[in-house]
Amino acid sequence: MTNTFEVRRVAPEALYDLRRRVLRADNPEVSVAYVRDTEETSIHFAGLLDERIVVSASLYPTESPINPVLNAYQLRYVATDFDVQGKGLGGIVLDAVEEELKSLGVEQVWANGRDTALDFYRAHNWQLLEGSEHLSPETKLPHTIIYKLLLS
Ligand SMILES: CC(C)(COP(=O)(O)OP(=O)(O)OC[C@H]1O[C@@H](n2cnc3c(N)ncnc32)[C@H](O)[C@@H]1OP(=O)(O)O)[C@@H](O)C(=O)NCCC(=O)NCCS
Repeated sequence: MTNTFEVRRVAPEALYDLRRRVLRADNPEVSVAYVRDTEETSIHFAGLLDERIVVSASLYPTESPINPVLNAYQLRYVATDFDVQGKGLGGIVLDAVEEELKSLGVEQVWANGRDTALDFYRAHNWQLLEGSEHLSPETKLPHTIIYKLLLS
């Protein structure tokens, strides 16, 4: 049987289960609802494998820590469900994210990238901001600021 994979814009609540399980160790105590989720300019993507949400990615217009002059969006809550990681699905969603932002005239996308995921972003030509290594206040895990210019 052939699997179908589709990238769609969704309501933020549709992504909370994946956020919690993959990014917050399934901890029922922590909140995975972000205060900016429901802002009109926030964008939420789901990757659906046979209609099951297996990838999440959310975007918020936020000043770039690399270059504040640019029209920039911050990417957050990127996660692929455990059983389908490493199959290229996260990459498909990341490509869709970049295309959507480009179509909106956004000049730069940036994120606080988990150090364990930096190779994933490097493979998609994202760059690391030198000297930006830090521990996330939320998860206490090592992160680095990463970014990509979307000007073509
Ligand atoms: C990082 C993550 C989003 C990547 O999504 P994915 O669907 O597994 O990624 P893809 O299959 O499209 O791409 C995998 C590529 O990234 C690389 N990679 C780097 N870090 C990786 C990681 N932690 N897991 C899987 N692949 C990783 C692989 O080498 C692979 O490259 P290749 O295809 O040339 O071998 C996903 O693995 C995940 O959810 N990890 C846990 C949560 C996390 O770290 N999220 C990111 C927060 S910034």
